[in-house]
Amino acid sequence: MPESMMMIVSTLEELRSARLILDEPVGLVPTMGYLHEGHLSLVQRAQEECASVVVSIFVNPTQFGPNEDLAAYPRDMERDLRLLESLGVNLVWTPTPEIMYPSGYQTWVQVEALAELLEGAMRPGHFRGVTTVVAKLFNGVRPAKAYFGQKDAQQVAVIRRMARDLNFPIEIIVCPTVREPDGLAMSSRNAYLDPEQHQAATVLYRALSTAKDAYEAGERDAEKLRVLMRDTLAAEPLAEMQYVSCADYDTLEELEQITGKTLLSMAVFVGKTRLIDNFVIG
Ligand code: PAJ
Repeated sequence: MPESMMMIVSTLEELRSARLILDEPVGLVPTMGYLHEGHLSLVQRAQEECASVVVSIFVNPTQFGPNEDLAAYPRDMERDLRLLESLGVNLVWTPTPEIMYPSGYQTWVQVEALAELLEGAMRPGHFRGVTTVVAKLFNGVRPAKAYFGQKDAQQVAVIRRMARDLNFPIEIIVCPTVREPDGLAMSSRNAYLDPEQHQAATVLYRALSTAKDAYEAGERDAEKLRVLMRDTLAAEPLAEMQYVSCADYDTLEELEQITGKTLLSMAVFVGKTRLIDNFVIG
């Protein structure tokens, strides 16, 4: 049994009272639930660095586009709560859409250039939803540190920018991508894949590895790496590339030559499931 009971709250009033009795510093792990090893690695890192850990579980409607998978997004609150309790998490915040976006809601947090590239170009409005909800989670929980996964590289970059630009006194911590033994990055959306599609989905990891190997062998032409990734993806009949990118790690702008820290990233459809993955090189 964990040392003390895990508190579970949903309203802002409940959150406020529960927050008062947490030991400082508090670490926050924002999630949309359907937890996997990737999420749990963030919780464990937060527990190493913070006296109390808060996990939020909220499938945030405003970060889904009209033709995206909001209604189908996998959910299993009971299992999630059991997992978090077994880890010894102190507080779980599970707001409802009505709590986060009561009627009349009309305030948004929007990062500009950085949020308009890559994922932002493919999913208009996505990062506006992410930064708005994360700002609200930050204001509700007031953590000293907040934990995010490298799996969503642009999300981390955009949230960092927001935290700096809006003076949130919160340290943003990035944790490495947790993968299946076959290389597939863990994701709640992997639940949509049948076994054949799961196998096909390892092509993202294979494409990134091919480009990284070429980089390590001395290739510095960014377009050559993009071509290698495209070719690897094209060889997988069940995968349909949406984009591949070889971009500056800080600005996310496409590179011609690789000279410093670089983000290799891609979005790929396997059936109806949209998957993203990335490597950092340089
Ligand atoms: P969600 O997709 O549930 O992810 C929650 C956190 O877990 C994010 O920081 C994400 O990068 C991290 N994560 C997901 N898969 C991972 C993996 N395989 N390895 C390491 N970390 C991983 O990202 C969101 O939710 C939402 O956009 C959110 C930030 C909660 C705002 O709604």
